[in-house]
Amino acid sequence: MTEVGIDGIEVRTGKLKLDLAEEFAPAQGDDPEKYTKGLGLNASSFPDVYEDIVTMGANAAYRLMERKGLEPEDIGRIDVATESAFDHSKPVSTYIAGCLEQRYPGTFHHANKGERKFACISGTQALDDAFNWIRAGRNRGRAGLVIATDTALYERDDPGEATQGAGAVAMLVDEDPDVAAFSVEQGYGSADETDFLKPDQQFPSVDGKRSVQVYLARMREALEDFESAGGDTHPDNFAFAPFHTPFPGMVSKAAVLGYRHAIRGTDVEEELVEEIGRQPRREAFDDDEAYLEAVTEYTDALAETDHYRDWYARTIEPTLTVSREVGNWYTGSVHLARVSGLLYAAEEGMDLTGKRLLVASYGSGAQAEIHAETVQEGWREEVGAIDIMDRVADRTPITFEEYEAIHDVHNRDEETDMEPLTTPEEEFVFDGWGRMGERKYTYVE
Ligand code: CAA
Repeated sequence: MTEVGIDGIEVRTGKLKLDLAEEFAPAQGDDPEKYTKGLGLNASSFPDVYEDIVTMGANAAYRLMERKGLEPEDIGRIDVATESAFDHSKPVSTYIAGCLEQRYPGTFHHANKGERKFACISGTQALDDAFNWIRAGRNRGRAGLVIATDTALYERDDPGEATQGAGAVAMLVDEDPDVAAFSVEQGYGSADETDFLKPDQQFPSVDGKRSVQVYLARMREALEDFESAGGDTHPDNFAFAPFHTPFPGMVSKAAVLGYRHAIRGTDVEEELVEEIGRQPRREAFDDDEAYLEAVTEYTDALAETDHYRDWYARTIEPTLTVSREVGNWYTGSVHLARVSGLLYAAEEGMDLTGKRLLVASYGSGAQAEIHAETVQEGWREEVGAIDIMDRVADRTPITFEEYEAIHDVHNRDEETDMEPLTTPEEEFVFDGWGRMGERKYTYVE
């Protein structure tokens, strides 16, 4: 059967940068290491006055289409994943299509457009939709455009404030992809949870500590489900394991639990017996409490082994590099982790073709999904064209006072009149309001 997966990727970050150690921590009266070491974040990206989820998504999609030599007629569907939408009816994909149509003679009138919602996991769900549409043979030779775009803002002084970020990842899904082909096997962990939600409000209500526990519980279920679907989880069989990364510290908590689960009954568990013993088995304990205590003890010891540390440095750490500099991009976050790993591999001259990725997505509310991907021959050329690290380096640093003002600009309850801090060039920008309250966009040469 023809492989289907990601044929090209483009990434856009918000153009402003808030340094967490130098600007945010002193203003909060916190030790900078709470952010840099505890959460694992150095900085957050924010959109300038003329940027938003549409401009970031459209700018990423436009560069992707230009690079791949595509016209609107080559795209059969546009799916936008976001949890920062400003319209309950008209999907963001129509705004993005409208932007792109300003640049092409043709139109997207025959493309199916929609918007996917399930917190941060909807980017992966949109990839799934495009995969299924192509596999069903309904694409008529056309590709699907999936755009995960978010301005991840929290209420001022919410504990989540340090994890904010803004950016978009545009992905082309097609047959015979150049970057990565998706496995058919996938696993889900899904339950009705109230850890993070936005009931008719812009900023989330969050139970941060609980959200961490829910992330871990749903990931575990998804891993078990992936295994029961026949998916291989041996940790040494994957080049990288990109996780949803609300902040890198979350991934380090999840990775050790996933590793412990995946090595159970394998050669790796045997190799570690002398050093830390065998994993506790439930049947050897009288009650759950004693069993859980033993499991925690084993996990803590596992995290300290060279075996685990080497695996983490090889398989997880490279996926966190971009996230550390830009914060949480919600729907785009796991896809940025994939990009981060691939950029590292290209830089290190690794031969990834045919190697596997284990992709672990998560959305609050809550659902986790795990699937595998096989890296394709064209990956190096595709990844070589992604300029996100230059864009990250080119962001304009902002002071805490400028951050406060820019937070207000993007707060829908505030009336502001702030001058942009950067100058747009060759990009789509927000250009004011239309007669029915719609947002308007234009392309600046
Ligand atoms: N030096 C080193 N480390 C320090 C430190 C210092 N001076 N001070 C604190 N730390 C460590 C803490 O020990 C802690 O690490 P551990 O969890 O490993 O113990 C870490 O830094 C964070 O410190 P706190 O727990 O005290 O931080 P907090 O309570 O202020 O906020 C949070 C943490 C609750 C996760 C908060 O950032 C939050 O609410 N975030 C939003 C929700 C979120 O991202 N949840 C993640 C799962 S849900 C999800 O993934 C969906 C999504 O995208 C939102």
